[in-house]
Amino acid sequence: MSITENDKQYIANTYARFPVELVSGKGAILKDSDGKEYIDLGAGIAVNVFGVADDEWLEAVTNQLSTLTHTSNLYFTEPCSTLAKMLCERTGMAKAFFGNSGAEANECAIKVARRYAFDKYGDESHSTIITLKNSFHGRTIATLTATGQDGYHTHFGPFVEGFVYAEANNIEDVKKLAEENNCVAIMMELVQGEGGVCKLDEDFVKDVKALADEKEMLIIIDEVQTGNGRTGSLYAFQQYGLEPDIVTTAKGIGGGLPIGITMLGEKVKDVLIPGSHGTTFGGNPVCCAGACNILSRIDNKLLDEVKAKSAYIFEELNNAKGVKSVSGLGLMIGIETEKSAKDIVNSCLQKGVLVLTAKTKVRLLPPLNIGWDELKKAVAILKEAIAE
Ligand SMILES: Cc1ncc(COP(=O)(O)O)c(C=O)c1O
Repeated sequence: MSITENDKQYIANTYARFPVELVSGKGAILKDSDGKEYIDLGAGIAVNVFGVADDEWLEAVTNQLSTLTHTSNLYFTEPCSTLAKMLCERTGMAKAFFGNSGAEANECAIKVARRYAFDKYGDESHSTIITLKNSFHGRTIATLTATGQDGYHTHFGPFVEGFVYAEANNIEDVKKLAEENNCVAIMMELVQGEGGVCKLDEDFVKDVKALADEKEMLIIIDEVQTGNGRTGSLYAFQQYGLEPDIVTTAKGIGGGLPIGITMLGEKVKDVLIPGSHGTTFGGNPVCCAGACNILSRIDNKLLDEVKAKSAYIFEELNNAKGVKSVSGLGLMIGIETEKSAKDIVNSCLQKGVLVLTAKTKVRLLPPLNIGWDELKKAVAILKEAIAE
């Protein structure tokens, strides 16, 4: 049986995969089972910050793999404590909880907000969380409910209570919901990734901050996709002048291994107490050793590179034939095209370039360290696919 046949017979039918069997890769180049090579502008959906099988990350991971792989959370281990310290020092957050995915990081954020409300008000009366329409926060039942898209709110009910949805970039809508409900928090992505790479207006975010202060609401920023250098700063909130109470991340910080992180600010750092939350693999030494390596290399030099490559892509695509608009921040880019995004993705695939979609747009999330030659070649192919 081929990989494809085996997959179709034995794996749950949740993914509409492209007809490609990927077998190996290095950096921004992936190879399929026929030996064909692809330039990767998707990075495993914003995961492979330094591409595939990055040497430094591999060394950190394999050293840890042969030293101590897993212990459970009953004992202290070095990699997760180092990672938590590094994260707090670079973000101004106070503590971190480690899980395994973006959805799990958001589940933890929701639990922290609810527990904070319970401790503050003595009951469940102030537990509502405002999220934004067009957002995406994950696929567990609570994070699906938090996701502000009707399409995700069918088939799997009953959904959990306690979420209301505001129009993105409409502060009056947020205010109305904050008046009508006893809200503990507002949760948002600063660039809505799955929703079509839509960047929130800076004024809107400033107004949300003022409202949150006035109404004593927590600010939860979902940086699962925007985080870890993707937008040109370590975390996107750092470009918006925000001091969030909770920041979630996953994807890129793992460098290819599963990790989810919920960072907690001063106000909520001690809300979780022993027994209130946990997960078997959380803080896994191997994933955390890899993440320490990734985080230590997201420095100003890399971030400047992200900004320069972003400017190049925007410039190349902004007035290109067949392009209606380009959106996003850093190396998280959405392209609205005259032709269907799906056709463009398929055409790029034929031509040896991997790109993604987000709603009706073509989406680019390349490895942050993609070489200029690879990037230029891939962008030229993409432009050709958009124009044809
Ligand atoms: C903003 C955001 N939040 C949460 C998630 C869910 O992350 P995961 O798939 O790791 O559970 C995603 C995944 O695409 C995301 O983009």
